[in-house]
This record gives sequence, C-alpha cells and structure tokens, in this order.
Amino acid sequence: IPTQIFANSKEASGAVAREIADLIRQTQKEGRSCVLGLATGSSPKTVYAQLVRMHREEGLSFRNVISFNLDEYYQMEPDSIHSYHRFMKEQLFDLVDIPKENYFIPDGTVPSKLLREYCASYENKINAVGGLDFQLLGIGGNGHIGFNEPGSLINARTRLITLDHSTRAAASMEFGGLHKVPRKAITLGVAPILNARRIVLLAWGERKASVIRAAVEGHVTELNPASYLQAHPDVSFVLDESAASELT
Ligand code: F6R
Repeated sequence: IPTQIFANSKEASGAVAREIADLIRQTQKEGRSCVLGLATGSSPKTVYAQLVRMHREEGLSFRNVISFNLDEYYQMEPDSIHSYHRFMKEQLFDLVDIPKENYFIPDGTVPSKLLREYCASYENKINAVGGLDFQLLGIGGNGHIGFNEPGSLINARTRLITLDHSTRAAASMEFGGLHKVPRKAITLGVAPILNARRIVLLAWGERKASVIRAAVEGHVTELNPASYLQAHPDVSFVLDESAASELT
C-alpha cells in the first residue's frame, strides 16, 4: 500500500483536501458529477474544514458533488447530537453549496424488517450514479474500515453490523458512558468500498501505528479489514509521523 507521510495531520489533511478539490474541479470541467464516499470520526475533520475554507475563499463549489457516507449508528435519530447525520451537516454539508438531495447517509431509523432491502438500495444508488470516484476512510484501532469490524469478509455487502467492544469503548467518552453507545450500526460493505476508483485512508497518532503497520505490511486477513486495501489498484494511506512510526 503506498503511503504518504506528513510531519503532522494538518499538513496531511491539507494535501487530501487539495486532492478532493482537484477532483471536484476536474469533474466540473468534464461536465459530470463527482461521487464521493465520506467518513466521520475525528480523522477527517480537518479535511472537511479545509474544504469549507476553499469553498469560502477560493470559490470551490460542491454543486456537482454527490456523496455517500460510510455508516451510521443503529438505532439513531438523524438530529441526535451523536448521529453521523448531524456530524456531516455541522462539519461540511451545511457550510458548502452541496444540494440537499445530493448527499446520502445511512438511515439509522429504518425498521429492522426493511433493513436488508434498505442496505441493498443504498448500494444501488451508488451504482446508479456511476460508482464512487473517491472514498475517504479512517481506520479503527482494530482495523475496521467503515464499521466493517474484524471478521468481515472481503465480499461483505452493506449491512447491519454488531459493533466490537473496542469500537464502542472508543466512542464511550462522546456518548457519556459505554452503556449509551449503540450496539449496532449500518455500514457500507467491504465490497462496495473496494469498488471505489480511488481510496485514501487517513490515520493520525501513535494509537494507530500498530494497526497501520499490520494493514500495510501484514497478511491480508479478515482479522484486520483494512488489510483488504492491499488488493486495491489506487489506494494511499495518508499518515502523520506518529501513525507511520512502526512501518519498517
Ligand atoms: C467513521 C468510520 C470509522 C472511523 C474509524 C476511525 O465513519 O467509518 O471507520 O473512520 O473508527 O475513527 P477516528 O477517525 O475517530 O479515529
């Protein structure tokens, strides 16, 4: 897996935001939509802040962007302070000119009877607009991408997943206690993630160093779903020096 290592996460985020902005401008020149796969969590926050800055200061327009988020807790109301809907609106969508009908985030309120159908239709919508041009990813300390936890197969589709204990523990501060963190989430599957034409995974800080090493240098294994990215033809891991510190 090609790596791009930066002195700090701010510089790294700037470079990723520029890549996304270039793609948006390129697709505008070609007169087509730019289809982005987006992540939440702490890692992409500065990327979104930079994109918002480019919108304000450089006239970067999101009119032609169609975006699909990776995941949402289940059950989760979209206006909850813990929802990924809320996160995306606050970090990006409400701050740029993306049309409301152009962004999609898995719906954490779908009745359980309808989930299978709903997850299939989420993937179909991505395919209907031509597939993901670019997928932005973070990585869990356990190697999850989206919420494809260890044990997820390379051909896993979009589905309801049971969150790992470590994933729930990582979120427990924000939720004000482990028992308040949802046990489940809807996640884009491994297969549709790998279908993106370009993938950029972000990782900052020492706590990601060992999982980054395993994903980049270890065997491809379902115990570390990020290792599946080794099979992708156009992926980069964008790292700060701490996250890269265990690479040999
Ligand atoms: C979020 C997501 C997760 C996070 C991962 C890292 O949409 O899909 O895979 O990217 O848990 O989270 P942070 O960036 O908070 O360390």
